[in-house]
Amino acid sequence: MNNLEEQINADIKEKLTEHRYKHSLGVMKKAEELAKFYGLDEKKARLIGLAHDIAKQMTSTEIDEYLSKYKVDLDEIEIDNRELLHAKIGADICKRKYNFDEQMVNAVKYHTTGNPNMDMMAKIIFMADKIEENRDYDDVEERRQLTLKNIDMAIVETINYTIRDSIDRGKIIHPDSIQTRNYLLKNMSKRKEHVL
Ligand SMILES: [Fe+2]
Ligand SMILES: [Fe+2]
Repeated sequence: MNNLEEQINADIKEKLTEHRYKHSLGVMKKAEELAKFYGLDEKKARLIGLAHDIAKQMTSTEIDEYLSKYKVDLDEIEIDNRELLHAKIGADICKRKYNFDEQMVNAVKYHTTGNPNMDMMAKIIFMADKIEENRDYDDVEERRQLTLKNIDMAIVETINYTIRDSIDRGKIIHPDSIQTRNYLLKNMSKRKEHVL
């Protein structure tokens, strides 16, 4: 562990529950593994994975204080949605406190909704969050395999699941998720890849 990794590790250990701390370590490990597989910077991937949920358990008061102190660019859906908010605030914390570069900040920012501008680093963080070793849902093993075969398709399938789940639970769907799905599907059909 280098200094920054130690610092982030200590911070999230203090801020997150044991369960979420374990998840963060799982994302760090999976992100490193995927970075190696796809030829990206493994150290950077580890740091992003470790820090991605840093704002996940901020209280309403802490969020209000943070937002009154710093300007975080939020849309009207995010302002009312704590689940979505943690990605944007987390990205801001990573930039200010850990000096993350733009690529790393964007990967944290996009890890929940996805974004059409995701680069490969952001894509592996998005998927590492959904398939790390502690995740346990019906299709997780299939999704792990697909992430290595066709990461764009793995992202589309993940978003499909989120959209269906949001409909079932009567939750709002963030337009970035729909735009990401459309963008990836369009690109895949341009490349004539098998689409679902
Ligand atoms: Fe998250
Ligand atoms: Fe996460």
